[in-house]
Amino acid sequence: MSQLLKQVFDPAFFHEQGEEMLDILTRHLKEVPERPRVFTPVDPDEEYSFWRAHWDHPDASFGTLVNLLIERSIHLHHPHYIGHQVSPAAPTAALGGFLSDFLNNGMGIYEMGAPASVIESIIIEWVSEKVGYGSQRGGFLTSGGSLANLTGLLVARTAKRRPDRKPAGILVSAESHYSVDRSVRILDMIPIPVPVTATLRMDPTRLEESYLAAEREGIQVIGLVGNACTTATGTYDDLPALADFCEKNDLWFHIDGAHGAAVIFTEKYRHLVNGLERADSLCMDFHKMLMIPALCTALVFKRPLDSYRTYIQDAQYLFENSGEEWFNVAKRSVECTKYMMSVKIFLLRQQFGDQVFEEFVRTLYDLGHQLAAMVKEEPHLQLGQEAQSNIICFRFVEPGMDDLELDRLNQDIRKALIQQGNFYIVQTKIRSRQFLRCTVMNPFTSTDDLTVLLHEVVRIGRQLTTSSISISKS
Ligand SMILES: Cc1ncc(COP(=O)(O)O)c(C=O)c1O
Repeated sequence: MSQLLKQVFDPAFFHEQGEEMLDILTRHLKEVPERPRVFTPVDPDEEYSFWRAHWDHPDASFGTLVNLLIERSIHLHHPHYIGHQVSPAAPTAALGGFLSDFLNNGMGIYEMGAPASVIESIIIEWVSEKVGYGSQRGGFLTSGGSLANLTGLLVARTAKRRPDRKPAGILVSAESHYSVDRSVRILDMIPIPVPVTATLRMDPTRLEESYLAAEREGIQVIGLVGNACTTATGTYDDLPALADFCEKNDLWFHIDGAHGAAVIFTEKYRHLVNGLERADSLCMDFHKMLMIPALCTALVFKRPLDSYRTYIQDAQYLFENSGEEWFNVAKRSVECTKYMMSVKIFLLRQQFGDQVFEEFVRTLYDLGHQLAAMVKEEPHLQLGQEAQSNIICFRFVEPGMDDLELDRLNQDIRKALIQQGNFYIVQTKIRSRQFLRCTVMNPFTSTDDLTVLLHEVVRIGRQLTTSSISISKS
């Protein structure tokens, strides 16, 4: 073997690098909350030049590169990261990721990763129990909510599509995540929009008309996707009403619980997903509300055999041959070589118990409600929707400005805020109007942090309106 290859796998070299990285990350974890910036926005071309120079001159030390990677990344462990729905990784779970990367068991088949395969199955039993399906192995972990939605709808199509070659359709809400619409189209089906209520829930009273209109157009409606909750505003659909409609019309009921199904771990917020157990399939991202590094999503089925329908028309055949092979996940998941994602959940759960998930979700949802209450108190701010989760939208308002001006102003407020780098929030549209969007993802975010954020938004808003008024006067 060459000297070079020997060094790549040298235990002493590995130990040295490992220790160095762990020291750097530990320091980062300790110091990040005190840092003035959650990130430093850099133009993509400038960032390209920076890394291109390193690529072309690979002379920086390992420690220098690790430090640079951390420094130039957005800091999800910073309490002012209040943006997209990605968890600050629990360090224990991240160590599970490190272990998974190192062992690299491509656990699509049992022989290629016995512990990870079996632990995945135990996790699915645990999730199914919490959903209300009873403890069973009808599901698997997969790489993200988008892939889980695609796989769930693939199974729906297999289960419900009639062989009469009519186009198949799925009832969807305009508020669904784009992966739902995309999955329906990838599967050569037709998304059938159902209007939403004033509170942005799929309107159960409009289901019948959407369903009948599609059938009149020659579409065989085979399923419906409910949101628990929506991405933009954190709104939960009326799941029992949707389940009633699906049962009445023999439709597959899939629930996109990528963000909000995590409330199954809490007593306080569990009511938001009443009816969840009536879904035929649902997904829940562990990398959103459950502190697991991305990607890690549970896709579970009400009837365990349905999970085998991903590629097989008649799952019963497996049963007859007692060939379910719950331990060979690749038979059911889109992935072949599969990441050992179960290890991350397992190590975190074994260390801290189920309680850790309950506390995480409850804390973030409580903070979401507190943020909404604070927005209501501030006359310059308008709340986008009543709080149900940790996703809260609001906008700066100024009397005398029309909607278009307010849209532009709120975009500018976000730009200015992001440029400062001391908070990271995002934006969305609600009923076609521009809103600022916060997702409280870090349990270390305090109400004081939220107060500072709102003051900052108002300060920037007033500054921008004052300067635009003085410009238009001059
Ligand atoms: C409701 C919902 N569904 C699906 C997804 C897609 O999940 P992923 O990013 O894990 O593919 C998201 C992501 O934001 C989401 O909010």
